Amino acid sequence: MLNRAYRKMCNLTLKKALMLCCGVFFVVFFLAYIAFFNHGAPENIMEQNRQNRDKVRFFEGDLGGEDSHMNDIEKDLAVEAKKAFDYWDTFIKKNDFTAIGEIYDSCEEKERQMVGRTIMLPDVRWGGIKGVKSRTFINYTLDSELTGGKFYLEVKYNGKDLFSRNWELCSLDEDYGDDRIIFCPFIPGDYSFVKDRQIPIYLPKGRYETKGWITDQEEQTIACGFSDFSL
Ligand SMILES: *[C@@H]1O[C@H](CO)[C@@H](O)[C@H](O)[C@H]1NC(C)=O
Repeated sequence: MLNRAYRKMCNLTLKKALMLCCGVFFVVFFLAYIAFFNHGAPENIMEQNRQNRDKVRFFEGDLGGEDSHMNDIEKDLAVEAKKAFDYWDTFIKKNDFTAIGEIYDSCEEKERQMVGRTIMLPDVRWGGIKGVKSRTFINYTLDSELTGGKFYLEVKYNGKDLFSRNWELCSLDEDYGDDRIIFCPFIPGDYSFVKDRQIPIYLPKGRYETKGWITDQEEQTIACGFSDFSL
């Protein structure tokens, strides 16, 4: 009799202990999730990125300024650069987009022309899970044939180097099926791309800075993109 009561109590205690353990585990897991992974509502992520962007006045003083040290070619380039920048800036403002990136035809600040922008949009995935995605608009004029090259990507997380890799350009998106946009060779001409990428919901919260660039068969950089966003 006593024995049974004792055993019952033991079982109960064990159950309670288990429940407590489980409870603690879930609370810790939940807090960790909130702290590191729960990005919040897409609208809030976008609003935060918009505010971050407004603080960064990139290029100010860099473009269209009267710089007496410039030669004529540099001045022409600066005027063209300003025009391209204004064109894309108008595109972003007119559509009230949340901009998170810029694409240029070179990585060098002094000689590059803007050829596209990246924005952030809300996204609904399988099962109704809400997140954000990026959409990149590129209008690019290719001057000479592109038969091959590489795509380089560097990612910084909260200011620290996280990731650096490169791929063969021509086979970069061969697994993308209908979404594939890279078919080598590219003949000279005007190209227009609009490309969406989901931002994975398993990425920890924080600031992501990326730099991606494309080289051609002669290892010359022909495009260079930067993005900076926070989750
Ligand atoms: C890019 O070029 C295409 C074709 O010329 C044009 O229809 C489109 O509006 C351009 N995109 C942007 C964002 O300017």
